[in-house]
Amino acid sequence: MQTRVLKISRDKPEISLIRIAAREIRKGNLVAFPTETVYGLGANALNKKAVAKIFRAKGRPNDNPLIVHISDKKDVYKLAKFVPKRAVKLMDKFWPGPLTIVLKKKAIVPNNVTCGLSTVAVRMPSHKVALALIKESRVPIAAPSANLSGRPSPTNAAHVIADLSGKIPIIISSGSADIGLESTVLNLTSIVPTILRPGKITPEDLRHVIGRVRVPHPIMQKIMRKSRSPGMKYRHYSPKAEVVVVIGKNPKKVILEMRKLKKNSAVIGFSGYGNNSYVCSDLKDMAKVLFRKFREFDKKGIGTIYVEGVPEKGFGLALMNRIKKAATIIVKV
Ligand code: TXA
Ligand code: MG
Repeated sequence: MQTRVLKISRDKPEISLIRIAAREIRKGNLVAFPTETVYGLGANALNKKAVAKIFRAKGRPNDNPLIVHISDKKDVYKLAKFVPKRAVKLMDKFWPGPLTIVLKKKAIVPNNVTCGLSTVAVRMPSHKVALALIKESRVPIAAPSANLSGRPSPTNAAHVIADLSGKIPIIISSGSADIGLESTVLNLTSIVPTILRPGKITPEDLRHVIGRVRVPHPIMQKIMRKSRSPGMKYRHYSPKAEVVVVIGKNPKKVILEMRKLKKNSAVIGFSGYGNNSYVCSDLKDMAKVLFRKFREFDKKGIGTIYVEGVPEKGFGLALMNRIKKAATIIVKV
């Protein structure tokens, strides 16, 4: 298949180009598009055959459900059987933005979107190109991250091209994703709202709006993954290189020692480590570059990537969640 790359302005999306992509969605085909978190691989969420193409293009296991993206808050009522008060509060505060909420689904949502679950995950992204595409398509868009299954999520169009060129008709190119990590996923069908995947919107942010929110202990997460958020049981975000995370007060000394043993290595940290090292200015910057650096170091044929761990609070919770999932070894010093 010939893949067309459409360059669209992130600030002023050209409507004529958006319409070309929207037409493809309406025909039941796939379009990769930017969001503020990562690039997504979209299909008409109400068309079972179109949704099936997503799983085929990504090589995604068919028990890992998709997020449905909307461009108008009101559309949540078309997809969800019941929208609790706390969902409305969260939508008002965080939509459009990097929060996905899980609600009881209506029959209109095909079973392959939710992989047979009785719930549906919904998000209204804030990226102008994403919003314009959904609006012009006039249907909700089901979209996982636009990477091959198991690869790091794509944070720019070049990543999508590397993974999916020749497999899908259109890839929209609109620069780098602002956040760089996938959205926070919150289950609102349990008695106490529960975070299924941490993201930019932190537990504290959510508690400010709706009170109690549960962040499952890592051991509980393992058990829950099977039923609640099936996607979480797969090893994700992994570069080909082995990833060694170093957690503790003085990771630098240890990483420098370890680098002497593994010469073909790279570092993602907060201070200089010489060649093949990236110095993050803060957590936000680390989140933004993490997946990109994984891919860049892979391209260079790096064997080991050392990553400085961060405290697991606030946005650090999401960051460490992704780093640990990519990790082959976790070293505590
Ligand atoms: O930021 C994002 O969320 C990006 C952009 C494209 O919006 N999308 C994304 O999709 O990361 P994906 O498919 O890579 O991750 C979706 C996550 C998975 O962990 C999946 O298991 C969970 O959401 N999920 C989807 N539907 C669910 C449901 N009904 N119940 C529980 N978890 C669900
Ligand atoms: Mg993904």
